[in-house]
Amino acid sequence: MYDAQKVRRLLEARKPGFTLSREMYSDADVFAFDCEAVWSRSWLMACVEAELPQAGSYVATRAAGSPILVVRDRKGDIRAFHNSCRHRGAQLCGEGRGKAGRLVCPYHRWTYDLTGALLPPPRMGPDFDASLYGLTPIACETLEGLIYVCLSESPPDFSAFRRTVGPLLAPHNLAKAKVAAEQTLIEKGNWKLVMENARECYHCVTGHPELSRGFPVSTGVAFDFSDDPRFAAFAERMGRIGLPIGPADGPWWQAARFPLNEGFISLSETGAQLVAKPLNAAGESDIGSLRWALEPNVFCHAVGDHAFLFSCDPISPQETLVTGKWLVHPEAEEGVDYDVAALTDLWTRTNLQDRDLVETNQRGVNSLGFRPGPYSPEAEILVARFVDWYCEAAKAALDAPTPTSAILRGVA
Ligand code: FES
Ligand SMILES: [Fe+2]
Repeated sequence: MYDAQKVRRLLEARKPGFTLSREMYSDADVFAFDCEAVWSRSWLMACVEAELPQAGSYVATRAAGSPILVVRDRKGDIRAFHNSCRHRGAQLCGEGRGKAGRLVCPYHRWTYDLTGALLPPPRMGPDFDASLYGLTPIACETLEGLIYVCLSESPPDFSAFRRTVGPLLAPHNLAKAKVAAEQTLIEKGNWKLVMENARECYHCVTGHPELSRGFPVSTGVAFDFSDDPRFAAFAERMGRIGLPIGPADGPWWQAARFPLNEGFISLSETGAQLVAKPLNAAGESDIGSLRWALEPNVFCHAVGDHAFLFSCDPISPQETLVTGKWLVHPEAEEGVDYDVAALTDLWTRTNLQDRDLVETNQRGVNSLGFRPGPYSPEAEILVARFVDWYCEAAKAALDAPTPTSAILRGVA
């Protein structure tokens, strides 16, 4: 639970165009509110289809700081559940990927089928009705191989995101891609500082010397490249090979394709291709980057030869879990078509550099001398947009509480 009045006071004290207050980045009530009221009403990227290759494949992960399970059932459908047994609440599956014919609780062996239905457990008495104790389902949507969940009973509309971003993603064949690498990192910073950092490149020239070589770090407003003299030719070439450029924009997402710096055909330190087999329907290497981002916690890039997915999940007021995944062509062979160390090098460095920046930011925000500072109207427009989104989502949650907390406790 959280002190809703305190959160409301803090939101009302916010000055538009400025960072939030210290409490918004550090307070335990605000953190509980963020998880329960904001994150649990948002669509969160949970995993990718490639991680669920067969019936019984599952991914045990986190969403809004809460353990969840994503499972492929015997019909091939993907389902999501709270990872909490309906007996006395034990976590059913430890975090990670696995495969099981049934989901068996390690505590007293209550057993669920892949649809989440409980099989009649022993010693529960003649009147026990197993049909009342299936796993608690979570809303789940798949779009072009990426699986999103929402913990709310009434999730935001997904259809406009599907309609506008789906065609941009479709040629990238992400539904067939394989996960070549995954990394996690714990940053000692509030999730909002992690995402503010992820929504701007104001810090990139000095903070990310390797990324800055190929990534257009000085781009002005919100990945709008229309002033770039190379853009018209890029757009024309993409149109010719059937790769839409967007942009697509909605209340909690944005997507657009843009050119990388001259001479760069991949997000690599030298610009060279990292995977021998292109991961797109056009079979092209030089297609710039399709960037898509979702509030509160995702940004992704699909270049010609791979895709990189970034997401985060809150752990505590000043700790955030960051996950990076690299997707490649399903037939690309490690050691032959790509080298994992080379594939992951750029974003690994970038993420570690960002971790240091976020932790530096958190330490300074914790200072008694911290006062909210102004965002750059040019270089930090997406940060301001993220904070605006957060404040609006937070106000909406305060004004219209829903039984999400009941869902989080698994009693709904
Ligand atoms: S808590 Fe799962 S079987 Fe008892
Ligand atoms: Fe960064």
